[in-house]
Amino acid sequence: MAAACGEYSDAGMSGKNVTEVVLADADGIARAARILESGGTVAVPTETVYGLAARADRDDAVAKIYAAKGRPDFNPLIVHVRDAEQAARYAQWSEPAGNAVMDVWPGPLTIVVPAKARAPLAKAVTAGLETVALRSPGHPVMQELLGLVDFPLAAPSANRSGFISPTTAEHVLTSLDGRIDLVLDGGPTQAGVESSILAVRADGAWEELRPGPIDLDAFHNERFGTGLPARIGSRSIEAPGQLASHYAPGKPVRLHADKAGPDEYMIGFGRAAGDCTLSQTGDLSEAASRLYGCLHQAAASDLPNIAIAPVPDEGIGRAINDRLRRAAAPVD
Ligand code: TXA
Ligand code: MG
Repeated sequence: MAAACGEYSDAGMSGKNVTEVVLADADGIARAARILESGGTVAVPTETVYGLAARADRDDAVAKIYAAKGRPDFNPLIVHVRDAEQAARYAQWSEPAGNAVMDVWPGPLTIVVPAKARAPLAKAVTAGLETVALRSPGHPVMQELLGLVDFPLAAPSANRSGFISPTTAEHVLTSLDGRIDLVLDGGPTQAGVESSILAVRADGAWEELRPGPIDLDAFHNERFGTGLPARIGSRSIEAPGQLASHYAPGKPVRLHADKAGPDEYMIGFGRAAGDCTLSQTGDLSEAASRLYGCLHQAAASDLPNIAIAPVPDEGIGRAINDRLRRAAAPVD
C-alpha cells in the first residue's frame, strides 16, 4: 500500500514493500534527491510520462529499476541529464548532436549517440550497446531534481514492463506500488506520450527510432532545410525496447473501430465518441495527453474487450498510432 510521507530511512530501500507518495514541492524533491543518492528508486514526473529514476552511475541502483519493472536486461535505459554539457560527459558528443538538441532541450527529445569509453555509467544502463540514449527533460520538477544531485538519472517509464505507461502518480501505483521507494506526485503529465528518439550516426545522419511529441521531419526541415546533414530515417529499425507488444492493457484491442460492439469499452476520437474520448474536437495534442489515461480506464473496466476509433497518422498522431499498434499486438 502507498504510505504518507514519513521519516526516510535507508533500511530496506527497494526491498521494502511500502511506496511513499509525496507532493513534488521543494521538500518532496529534496527527499527524492536523498533517496536517489542512497541508491533508491523514485518515480518522477516528466513532461511526457512518469519515469522510474535511479542514479545512473551505480550498478546496484540501476539493477533495482530492472527488478521493479520486470524489464528484460537487453533493453537499455535513457540517461536523464541537466543539459548538453552534462550529456557530453557520457557521450562522444558531436556538432550534429549539439545541433539536434539545441532548439529542443530541455524537452521531449532523446538522442542516441556513441557512448564515451569508460563513461561513469552502470553497465546495465546501455545493456551492452556502444551507444547511449540521453535526454534533458523540460519538466520543472526534473530540472530541479537534476540540479540537486551530482549524477544523471536512468529512467524508463514507471510501469511494469510491457504495461501501459503512466501519466499520473496513481497510474504509477497501479503497477509499481510496493516495488519502489517513492512517488513524487507532480500531477498529470502534459505531452502524454514518450519522447521522440533520434539516433545521430557518426556521419551526422539522423534516424528516427521512436515517434513522439517532437515531429522530427518538421524539425529537421525547419532547422536544416533540405540540405545537410542527410537524414536516413529508416522507420523499420527500432529501439531495442520497441517490441511488437507493449503498452498492453491486458485485454484484446480492436483498432479503427466506428463504434463499440456489445462487449467492448470504446475509446473515441472526434465524432466517434467513446466511454473515454481522446479528443472530441479532434485535437491530436489533447488526444496524446489523454491516451494512456483512457487505456488505464479501459483496462480497469468490467468490459472484456477494447475498441479504439481511428486517429489521423500525422504529427503527434504518428506517436499515438505507434503506441496503439503495440497496445493491440498479441502478447506472446
Ligand atoms: O519520455 C520518455 O522518453 C520517458 C521519460 C521517463 O523520460 N522514458 C521512456 O523510457 O520512455 P523507456 O525505457 O520506456 O523507453 C526508452 C526506449 C526503449 O525503447 C529503449 O530500448 C530505447 O529507448 N533505448 C535506450 N537506449 C538506447 C540505445 N542506446 N539505442 C537505441 N535505443 C535505446
Ligand atoms: Mg516504456
